Amino acid sequence: VIEGLKGLSRGRLHLAVASTVNYFAPRLLAVFQQRYPGIQLRLEVTNRESLVQLLEANAIDLVLMGVPPKDVEVEAEPFMENPLVVIAPPEHPLTAARQIPLYRLAEEVFVMREEGSGTRQAMERFFRERGIQVRQGMQMTRNEAVKQAVRSGLGLSVVSLHTIELEIETGRLVVLDVEGFPDRRQWYLVYRRGKRLSPAARAFREFVLTEAAGIAQPQLAGTNASAGQDQATL
Ligand code: PGA
Repeated sequence: VIEGLKGLSRGRLHLAVASTVNYFAPRLLAVFQQRYPGIQLRLEVTNRESLVQLLEANAIDLVLMGVPPKDVEVEAEPFMENPLVVIAPPEHPLTAARQIPLYRLAEEVFVMREEGSGTRQAMERFFRERGIQVRQGMQMTRNEAVKQAVRSGLGLSVVSLHTIELEIETGRLVVLDVEGFPDRRQWYLVYRRGKRLSPAARAFREFVLTEAAGIAQPQLAGTNASAGQDQATL
């Protein structure tokens, strides 16, 4: 409980998070709520494009997202790694390969998130910067749909490691060991520049910046990609 906020027994906090953040946000909220039971929390889960609109309209206290907007004046503070990885179904021939060269992916079809997705933007930028053109397969608006599509053999995909913790544990999806991956991105806590944060918002900001990584950092250990890594965890 941070100094000056000890007596914080009431307040409302309106949060919005990227759909990918939804895989760990409830864990953070559970700890935060226990510490500040008087704060009433409201959570919107939506894609990057809608988050930018909420920030533009000054209609939200705090946002957790992967790609902060450039054309809206915001403060963006990194709080945890967001590793993007290449996933395949367990029967895919590349699951046995180590250090797969990036150009090899040009032969594969990729299941894509929708245009407004931060994951998709990051994936496209990653391949563009390295001069790789992957074949675009089906497009889907949910991480869950993408994972099911990959499991069903519709292609590979690039997703946040946060979205596949259960599938890795149960062996339903495999993280490929591809050159340049994981793409180590960051999650950011974002709010309008100059916004006067309420005591509840300040308490949540402080909590996320200091504790979120300890609560929700995903582990690469046990995946194929960790075999080619210097360290087993991120
Ligand atoms: P998404 O967000 O759910 O819109 O892909 C993830 C991100 O912003 O990196």
